[in-house]
Amino acid sequence: MQKMRTFVGLFVGLFFGLTALEVLAHGDVTPHPVDTSSLPSLGKEWVLPNPYRGNEKAVAVGAIGYLHNCAGCHGLNAESGGVAPDLLLVTKDCLGMASMDQQSSCLKDTDDYYKDIVLHGKKNGEGRFLMPAYESVFTQEAVWAIKAYTDSRAKEDLAKKAK
Ligand code: HEC
Repeated sequence: MQKMRTFVGLFVGLFFGLTALEVLAHGDVTPHPVDTSSLPSLGKEWVLPNPYRGNEKAVAVGAIGYLHNCAGCHGLNAESGGVAPDLLLVTKDCLGMASMDQQSSCLKDTDDYYKDIVLHGKKNGEGRFLMPAYESVFTQEAVWAIKAYTDSRAKEDLAKKAK
């Protein structure tokens, strides 16, 4: 039985290892659209701050969008494996501020920053994309749902630490 378990463990490990390698090797980072049809529509003009923050439905939709688009680099469950920056840090910094006013204005800044990076991606000095641009496939609903998800993950981590 022990042997069997080791075998299964090895197999599962191999599978995830290869999947991770594939992401690194082929860079399957093609942006995938996010189905946000269950969320209130936000219109054409960008809304700031993120109107979906704290909205459970948006968090769930964002979690799926995150998994399909961001997890390969920023880590499963938004736990950074070191390939790309930890997306929870900036939100955690904001939530650590003393007054609600400070927190709100800090979170609004992170929304603005996040949106710009997600829409335009990131290039290195030679102009090679380190992170793809999602402008052509993401609606603002998709961007804000994913941000609602990472913000909620940050909150969850802080709550765990406080226990
Ligand atoms: C191909 C890998 C890759 C994918 C896919 C990717 N990113 Fe990134 N992302 C990076 C890298 C690398 C950086 C850091 C770039 C730099 O150092 O300039 C980054 C930076 C960021 C930053 C700035 C972080 C900071 O602390 O300054 C945000 C926000 C971000 N990514 C969000 C996302 C979101 C949301 C998604 C999914 C929609 C995503 N990324 C998909 C690789 C990726």
